[in-house]
Amino acid sequence: MKVAALFILGCLVWEGMAKPEFPEQEKDPGFWKEWAQRTLKNALTLQDLNKNVAKNIILFLGDGMGVPTVTAARILKGQLSGQNGEETQLEMDKFPYVALSKTYNTNAQVPDSAGTATAYLCGVKANEGTVGVSAAAVKSQCNTTRGNEVTSILKWAKDAGKSVGIVTTTRVNHATPSAAYAHCVDRDWYSDGDMPAEALQSGCKDIARQLFENIPDIDVIMGGGRRNMYPRNTPDVEYPGDKKHNGTRKDGRNLVGEWTDRMKDKRGYYVWNRKDLFSLNPSNVDYLLGLFEPADLPYELERNKETDPSLTEMVDVAIKILRKNERGFYLLVEGGRIDHGHHDGKAKHALHEAVEMDRAITRAGLLTSIYDTLTVVTADHSHVFSFGGYTHRGNSIFGLAPIMSDIDQKPFTSILYGNGPGFKFVNGARENVSTVDYEHNNYQAQAAVPLSMETHGGEDVAIFSKGPLAHLLHGVQEQHYIPHVMAYAACIGQNKNHCHTNSGSPSLSHISPTLAVLLSVKWLLC
Ligand SMILES: *[C@@H]1O[C@H](CO)[C@@H](O)[C@H](O)[C@H]1NC(C)=O
Ligand SMILES: *[C@@H]1O[C@H](CO)[C@@H](O)[C@H](O)[C@H]1NC(C)=O
Ligand SMILES: *[C@@H]1O[C@H](CO)[C@@H](O)[C@H](O)[C@H]1NC(C)=O
Ligand SMILES: [Zn+2]
Repeated sequence: MKVAALFILGCLVWEGMAKPEFPEQEKDPGFWKEWAQRTLKNALTLQDLNKNVAKNIILFLGDGMGVPTVTAARILKGQLSGQNGEETQLEMDKFPYVALSKTYNTNAQVPDSAGTATAYLCGVKANEGTVGVSAAAVKSQCNTTRGNEVTSILKWAKDAGKSVGIVTTTRVNHATPSAAYAHCVDRDWYSDGDMPAEALQSGCKDIARQLFENIPDIDVIMGGGRRNMYPRNTPDVEYPGDKKHNGTRKDGRNLVGEWTDRMKDKRGYYVWNRKDLFSLNPSNVDYLLGLFEPADLPYELERNKETDPSLTEMVDVAIKILRKNERGFYLLVEGGRIDHGHHDGKAKHALHEAVEMDRAITRAGLLTSIYDTLTVVTADHSHVFSFGGYTHRGNSIFGLAPIMSDIDQKPFTSILYGNGPGFKFVNGARENVSTVDYEHNNYQAQAAVPLSMETHGGEDVAIFSKGPLAHLLHGVQEQHYIPHVMAYAACIGQNKNHCHTNSGSPSLSHISPTLAVLLSVKWLLC
């Protein structure tokens, strides 16, 4: 009580005075000690490992969300709610287990999103540029596909009777989601219109088509990518006057029409805007296809809140549909445009995308329980994004370092890129950033080397996990280990010997007594 009152008083004083650099209470060693003791007490509860069966498994994939991006997004999230930001906790920060993931592709030290997606979805490392095929397949060579297909955890879950879903802010046939259902030697073969004639003649199929043909009826599909589903010269439903959004298919097929026909008597709905999405009651929907843009969804900062749902809103609807299956579900969620922001050198977009994915993680946490849901948050790879420069506590994450360069006597932003489109010389010298609006949404942070697209980074990325057997994701691991853990925890896919069937639903052979009590209490209450 006394502590709370002091805290509130402290906050009032803090609000009322000229803002000190950090809260007064931080001068008290007791503040730090009590905080650490609370954390320690919490950590000690983890000695009782959660060995339940993961009825539900969820993977949140932040495309390009390296560790510097996570830290900067955390500071941004705090600053958006009026705090300094450094002390803020992202939702993913609250997960009890963290590991590092080694992201290299079989043929690349610095990987791409296709080979990495094959690793964390299919459990097999692969060549860059390829999805759902092993490293025996060669990029863009159709004739190396057959016999080298590898299946994903989404398929293992579907085969086990679970409902499955894909939610992304990119095209639904972009690199990340496509490794969940497609086997393709070229991630850019979105529709048959994107494929060389030779590949089509040899029998290779485009990724959009594989979305609907490989795994019978993925229960929930949400994202962008309409134009790859319709025949050439079909105007887009939302932008009929904009020719660049015409359909791209050469085979004349209307994949959306075929899907809706197939769904006639199956409580399946197709929507292409936010209003129609929210007109649905998830308890009456068993299948959902939501394609909200011809290509990728807009950046969260530029989203038209009338027509396009946020990632959080899509995740909310997806879980409400999927969780109706008593055998549980697998959901892949991609914050896909963190990567695009970075490639453009536009850190503000990248970080707002990461914050939005974190909000989606919070929403998923409210709709599920750690007793029966394993949630994993990770990235496919990092970027050459950095922030530094001895900035003071609470400095705007998009702000300037407090010092000038001692070489060219000019200011510099804390955020910088190793390479990218932000490289800029003015009159033969580095631009003076004080003369431009470096907090603008589309500001491109300075880069050391000029490149039209900033590149991926090669360092490890984090894996955060909570729920049943989350502790198996610890230490420094190869990226392809991730789906093996998730499948083991859910008793799907290979090595199920530790699972035994008990009145229809699988369970683990070793359930700690404490958990058994907790579980039965939960059963009594439900
Ligand atoms: C596979 O296709 C490539 C061209 O994409 C060709 O060079 C190669 O000879 C073909 N290999 C076989 C075994 O047919
Ligand atoms: C787009 O479709 C319209 C209507 O069918 C057609 O007139 C136009 O030529 C198409 N444009 C492109 C670039 O395909
Ligand atoms: C950079 O721009 C600011 C704002 O216009 C100006 O005050 C400062 O003198 C400039 N510094 C250099 C080194 O040109
Ligand atoms: Zn990328």
